Amino acid sequence: MVRADPAVRVELEAAGWAVIAGSWGAGLAIGGDSEGRLAALMRRVERLVTVRELRSSDVAAILDLDAVTAGDYPGDVATAHDRLNSAQATPTIVHRGWGAFRPEGQLVGMTYVDVGEKAVETDFTVVQQEMRGRGLGTAVKAASVLALVEEGYVWFRTGGSLDNPASIAANRALGYVLDEEWLTFARTGSTPGPRGPRRAA
Ligand SMILES: CC(C)(COP(=O)(O)OP(=O)(O)OC[C@H]1O[C@@H](n2cnc3c(N)ncnc32)[C@H](O)[C@@H]1OP(=O)(O)O)[C@@H](O)C(=O)NCCC(=O)NCCS
Repeated sequence: MVRADPAVRVELEAAGWAVIAGSWGAGLAIGGDSEGRLAALMRRVERLVTVRELRSSDVAAILDLDAVTAGDYPGDVATAHDRLNSAQATPTIVHRGWGAFRPEGQLVGMTYVDVGEKAVETDFTVVQQEMRGRGLGTAVKAASVLALVEEGYVWFRTGGSLDNPASIAANRALGYVLDEEWLTFARTGSTPGPRGPRRAA
């Protein structure tokens, strides 16, 4: 995976590599009306779901939602999502999650973040297929950012596949500004392409 650069692309394609996927990174710096905008995105879904931070008692529900959505992540290695095991699904102080619960208690959307010293980076976000397009993906991310802003975090990162319009639209609504584009190349045949850091949103 390499930074998207027309000259590098021409060079790699001439050398027998082909683009197999594109991905992007984006940043959100809290300031101005960010918090008001994020709160409004949460209010849009309050009749449908309750959004709250995930706890270790939610692990069974988290694994169930992960299992039914594991094949839904577009893109290639740069935006891949590996099935969670119980340890990975258990929230910790550096890997925290927020979820959307239906009134009967079913978890239908979730986002996890990696909390770093300098920035909070989205690990992944997913919504149950039947509940997509109703603002839940945006709302769980808004909830995570708002809660962490309360704790003093001001710099957030996310990313995803260029083939994922819903994810791009959700992050744009949250205020993320796209600042990186990456291309994943592969050789015609089976040789894997140059690879770089993984990003998912
Ligand atoms: C990406 C995902 C989490 C978005 O969740 P969602 O609840 O469907 O998204 P929302 O309803 O909050 O919609 C977000 C925006 O995307 C738009 N959108 C939703 N589905 C769309 C689609 N299929 N194509 C284009 N735009 C779409 C919405 O209109 C909205 O934009 P707006 O705020 O400008 O109106 C969800 O599609 C999903 O679970 N995908 C599979 C896993 C994945 O790819 N996760 C992201 C990478 S980690």
